[in-house]
Amino acid sequence: MSQVSIKRPKGTQDMIPSAAYKWHTVENICKDAAKSFGYKEIRTPTFEDTGLFVRSVGDTTDVVQKEMYTVSSSGEAQFTLKPEGTAGAMRAVIENGLLNEGIPQKVYYMTSCFRHEKPQAGRLREFHQFGCEMLGASGPAADADMILLAKTILDNAGVKNTELFINSIGCPECRAKYTQALKEYFSSYTDELCGTCLTRLEKNPMRILDCKSPICSEIAKGAPEILDYLCDDCKEHFTSLQRILAELDIEFTINPRIVRGLDYYTKTVFEFVTTDIGAQGTICGGGRYDGLVGELGGADTPALGFAIGLERLILTMENQGSEFIEEPTCDIYLASIGDAALVKTASLARDLRNCGFNAEYDLVGRSLKAQMKYADKIGAKFSIVIGDDDLKNGYAKLKNMETGEKEELRLSERFSEHFSDILVAYMFGDSFYEN
Ligand code: HAM
Repeated sequence: MSQVSIKRPKGTQDMIPSAAYKWHTVENICKDAAKSFGYKEIRTPTFEDTGLFVRSVGDTTDVVQKEMYTVSSSGEAQFTLKPEGTAGAMRAVIENGLLNEGIPQKVYYMTSCFRHEKPQAGRLREFHQFGCEMLGASGPAADADMILLAKTILDNAGVKNTELFINSIGCPECRAKYTQALKEYFSSYTDELCGTCLTRLEKNPMRILDCKSPICSEIAKGAPEILDYLCDDCKEHFTSLQRILAELDIEFTINPRIVRGLDYYTKTVFEFVTTDIGAQGTICGGGRYDGLVGELGGADTPALGFAIGLERLILTMENQGSEFIEEPTCDIYLASIGDAALVKTASLARDLRNCGFNAEYDLVGRSLKAQMKYADKIGAKFSIVIGDDDLKNGYAKLKNMETGEKEELRLSERFSEHFSDILVAYMFGDSFYEN
């Protein structure tokens, strides 16, 4: 049979072990911050009924019209790989009756998302979102707390040079007037708008504002702005949010052009954008979606949230030279000479691991020289060589791989305990004992 070389699908990435520490760093930063704000994890299926996304994200959005990966299983219902995390989280909150457990309900998730977009730096077909959603809080303080959480994550990740843009896209009442104004404006450009936007003009003219075609975006620059159409309630909400953000020392810029690419938003929308990773600089996007829970069959419940694109966050951190937390390396490598010694290293490694140490021994039959080279390569802090003589007299020499210092250790059941003392001294220095 001829060999074939199969490559990963376009727009996807492998996370290889040498890069895992970067992912673990950002995942822990995100989770720790969310937990400190009272959020609990929710996990939902990778695919959902297609109707969920059509209803929530909206049938005139790019995501639904052009980017969803949809499959039908044996001719039955259609399923779609989730293009974003909010819809599935809301479906799960409603289906599991979480709103009966008290409000505000606060959930976070870390999930793969799938969008059939043209891949480029920071834009993938499979990417990962860390998202937070809060249900049951209608006031602007919740919007500010949500923005503060997103900012806390970016700050804790050491991200610099991001700008926070906020806008209000109003409620259905203000939206109706605004939609009418947009229809009037775009109607003079029917000769120039792309085919998709011509349909949008009829069904949902606000979507023309985030069309990626250069001609449509140029025309959109002159369109009326939503802020001029806000009702009193939405205006008051937006003004209060700005006051709270100012009190929290969170700098922001009002950008009336931010409408977001998903239909469920109402009132506040926001984005954290960096110029350090090229054209796809939106690291985080979010906002309020007060109508979605009701739309999906739950009791009318105000809600809001955001999602951070983890690939974009890591890319920003890499480009800005941020620190990632290195993973712990091997505490001790147990080298052996001969079969009996190998068995001894196996049981010592087991005892050490049971005590919480990272211990390794030779599983591939290397020579002693090659074992020591390997110990060096994996960054072992200590090594010990066990041969026949050591087995007989019950002692072996432990070597500090950094300093080369050696110390006798008894190969007894208390080996792990003695090693523990030595490792603690190594890690904290003598001062640990003096204090
Ligand atoms: P979104 O703006 O579509 O919002 O996506 C959120 C973040 O996911 C973006 O800011 C970006 O960092 C990342 N992202 C989006 N598409 C891609 C892609 N193709 N490649 C790499 N990263 C990407 C949402 O998805 C909303 N569900 C956010 C939300 C939660 N709103 C309220 N709650």
